[in-house]
Amino acid sequence: MTQAANQLFPVILPVSDTDKRLNGRDKVKALSRLARSALMKSCEKSGLHLEAFPKSEKGVPLPVGGVHWSLTHKSDMVGGVASLLPVGMDLETIRPVNDALLAKVADDDEWQLVGGDQQKAFFRFWTAKEAVLKAVGKGMVGLSRCRVVAVVDDTRMTLTYDETRWPVTHFWFDGHVAALTAPQVSVSWTLF
Ligand SMILES: CC(C)(COP(=O)(O)OP(=O)(O)OC[C@H]1O[C@@H](n2cnc3c(N)ncnc32)[C@H](O)[C@@H]1OP(=O)(O)O)[C@@H](O)C(=O)NCCC(=O)NCCS
Repeated sequence: MTQAANQLFPVILPVSDTDKRLNGRDKVKALSRLARSALMKSCEKSGLHLEAFPKSEKGVPLPVGGVHWSLTHKSDMVGGVASLLPVGMDLETIRPVNDALLAKVADDDEWQLVGGDQQKAFFRFWTAKEAVLKAVGKGMVGLSRCRVVAVVDDTRMTLTYDETRWPVTHFWFDGHVAALTAPQVSVSWTLF
């Protein structure tokens, strides 16, 4: 392994028009496969090696030879990252959301950290929480234990899961936002 523990190389790939036209299980399979291609590109960039993608019976990605990994696949973009530390990645297309979703993702104290502009901050909070919940392997069942505690600037914030602090960095591109748990010093995003 050549990757420094303080560097991350998340990779984002666009979904082809052919794959976008798929439906149901075929589409999920195609997006999962493409996300694994993004993950392999992340491995290449970081000098890490993953020869399999095992998951627990609950669907949580399991590390292989000390290499942790995380995937995200949405209908037009997918992403993947490999890391020497537990890691979580998520991405979303930015779109208007309703009040019920706003209330689901954060409480008043958390919204105050971004000056109350909930529509603008919603997908930052959403993707950041998803990324942390993936890094701790909990998924949505852990949502109530995950909180935004500091917003540093447009790309950096800190969350907690129980007592553990999780720095998260964001990457904004083409109507989307991606989030990555990033205790490491340096994050180098690649968008193909
Ligand atoms: C499953 C979950 C971890 C992510 O779901 P998602 O955002 O819909 O899906 P993504 O495409 O971003 O991520 C899917 C990948 O996450 C990984 N994953 C699934 N469960 C996981 C878990 N418990 N922990 C870590 N990673 C997990 C898998 O690798 C999966 O890809 P694969 O099936 O191809 O292997 C979970 O958070 C969930 O159920 N989310 C539902 C969406 C929602 O209500 N979000 C509200 C956010 S406030």
